[in-house]
Amino acid sequence: MRRSFTPADVFLVLALFIKEIPWGVRGSSHCQQTSSGVVRPHSVTITEFGAVGDGLTLNTKAFQNAIFYLNSFADKGGAQLFVPAGRWLTGSFDLISHLTLRLDKDAVILGSTNSADWPVVDPLPSYGRGRELPGGRHRSLIYGCNLTDVIITGDNGTIDGHGNVWWNWFRNGTLNFTRPHLVEFINSTGLVILNLTFLNSPFWTIHPVYCSQVIVQNVTIIAPLDSPNTDGIDPDSSNDVCIEDCYISTGDDLIAIKSGWDEYGISYARPSTNIIIHRLVGETRSSSGIALGSEMSGGISEVHAEKLQFFNSNMGITIKTSRGRGNYVRNIYISDVTLANVNIAIRFTGQFEEHPDEFYDPDALPVIEKITIKDVRGEKVKVGGLLQGIEGDKFHNICLSNITLAVASDFPWNCSYVQGYSDSVSPETCEALKESIFPEHQTDCYCLSNHLRSLVDHTRGARLW
Ligand SMILES: *[C@@H]1O[C@H](CO)[C@@H](O)[C@H](O)[C@H]1NC(C)=O
Ligand SMILES: *[C@@H]1O[C@H](CO)[C@@H](O)[C@H](O)[C@H]1NC(C)=O
Ligand SMILES: *[C@@H]1O[C@H](CO)[C@@H](O)[C@H](O)[C@H]1NC(C)=O
Ligand SMILES: *[C@@H]1O[C@H](CO)[C@@H](O)[C@H](O)[C@H]1NC(C)=O
Ligand SMILES: *[C@@H]1O[C@H](CO)[C@@H](O)[C@H](O)[C@H]1NC(C)=O
Ligand SMILES: *[C@@H]1O[C@H](CO)[C@@H](O)[C@H](O)[C@H]1NC(C)=O
Ligand SMILES: *[C@@H]1O[C@H](CO)[C@@H](O)[C@H](O)[C@H]1NC(C)=O
Ligand SMILES: *[C@@H]1O[C@H](CO)[C@@H](O)[C@H](O)[C@H]1NC(C)=O
Ligand SMILES: *[C@@H]1O[C@H](CO)[C@@H](O)[C@H](O)[C@H]1NC(C)=O
Repeated sequence: MRRSFTPADVFLVLALFIKEIPWGVRGSSHCQQTSSGVVRPHSVTITEFGAVGDGLTLNTKAFQNAIFYLNSFADKGGAQLFVPAGRWLTGSFDLISHLTLRLDKDAVILGSTNSADWPVVDPLPSYGRGRELPGGRHRSLIYGCNLTDVIITGDNGTIDGHGNVWWNWFRNGTLNFTRPHLVEFINSTGLVILNLTFLNSPFWTIHPVYCSQVIVQNVTIIAPLDSPNTDGIDPDSSNDVCIEDCYISTGDDLIAIKSGWDEYGISYARPSTNIIIHRLVGETRSSSGIALGSEMSGGISEVHAEKLQFFNSNMGITIKTSRGRGNYVRNIYISDVTLANVNIAIRFTGQFEEHPDEFYDPDALPVIEKITIKDVRGEKVKVGGLLQGIEGDKFHNICLSNITLAVASDFPWNCSYVQGYSDSVSPETCEALKESIFPEHQTDCYCLSNHLRSLVDHTRGARLW
């Protein structure tokens, strides 16, 4: 037994950390599973609704009818839709609350190659337009809006977006609207995505936006390394998100945390906060393992990412922002990172640009502060850090600790408009970050106070929550 806490201890810890301990890690280092053990009292199989798993028959109607039928069980503990072995071609379909979508291990849900099977929906208010083209956007293959308690799972069954047609439309300029995600949830809560493989998304793969209490666990996400904008998981203006045990190999950022775009994101004002990432492995030839931004105009805070392994990648950890984005990226803690064959280990840029239109406010300067990156090992790294803040808007309290990189460049760190502290960084970091963290600057750094850390660890062990 661990020692018990006095009420005063508990109060102290609560007062200090109630905002800082993300929902997903309370009590353990695993995502807290609130609903994945749920057994739905009612279950149907997609074939009962006329679906044919031959990879040729379009099954959109079967999915829609099955889900319409299951809606009558939503207030009776919910229901499960089972997808057996086979290749189930479909257009976009819409989920409901209190639903489990379960795939057999040999089931493949396959996206239609006809863009008309992916209806066009309104742009997100925090983006003001589609991300790649003005106007609406194609709806994701698996879609949910205003939902609660949804599970998508299946013994490593597969959801395949058939993205190559979309990538070709993108490349040859024949898209009329922004490409669809593979899975998108809007304004939903209590979501679990577990034990699945996602292939060939047309655009970002898993996109929870304006959501809370989201768990993504034990998923494999694969798209060709040269496929355009095929991000893995993009929590966007969402809170209490836990992503664990994932393997991601795609053409863009493996995980990108976002919160809306310039003036639209600023006025929608919904941050991404309390995001946990554990045990992420993957590669991306053109982008980053973990990215914050570039769309961060609702703010991003309290991100804890640990046990990350990125190989054969362009960048490891990235913060992307720009004049006009506004708001903040703060209280970010990234530790236990292994890099192998990565061009730039850490990349911050305040010059990302990419604006939705000419109406953004160039005086809306993002505040980038309290970024801690520690315990990083890297082999075959070209550049340690290329850290570029914004003139008149320094990125500050950047704290680097225990970083050892085998770097090829003669200029391993290149910093402008950044300020911060470091300890045990090799090769030696840039002048702007050289001042030591310990003992005087611990409180300037996010989550780097030994005393507070050990209190947190005790508290986790004591299962206060
Ligand atoms: C989000 O969903 C909830 C519950 O369905 C609803 O009450 C609320 O109005 C929705 N908000 C938006 C912005 O759609
Ligand atoms: C979500 O909820 C909002 C607010 O109630 C409503 O306006 C919107 O139509 C709902 N969207 C869907 C797809 O049900
Ligand atoms: C992940 O999923 C696979 C296939 O469903 C399973 O064999 C494995 O045990 C799962 N791992 C975890 C940690 O759940
Ligand atoms: C799931 O399937 C993918 C694709 O076939 C495979 O790469 C991965 O190793 C499998 N995951 C597990 C946990 O079995
Ligand atoms: C663009 O790519 C699509 C999908 O491969 C193809 O069907 C179409 O013919 C191409 N259009 C042009 C103008 O190249
Ligand atoms: C774009 O619109 C044109 C004209 O309606 C249509 O022929 C074409 O198929 C559309 N492209 C896509 C990718 O949907
Ligand atoms: C996920 O896979 C693991 C290991 O196979 C299994 O223990 C767990 O029950 C699975 N979860 C679901 C919801 O199928
Ligand atoms: C430094 O980081 C490595 C992992 O990269 C870890 O194994 C080691 O324990 C860390 N050292 C200290 C003093 O924390
Ligand atoms: C630092 O980075 C800037 C921007 O990429 C570049 O112009 C400059 O040459 C770099 N300096 C060194 C010493 O590498």
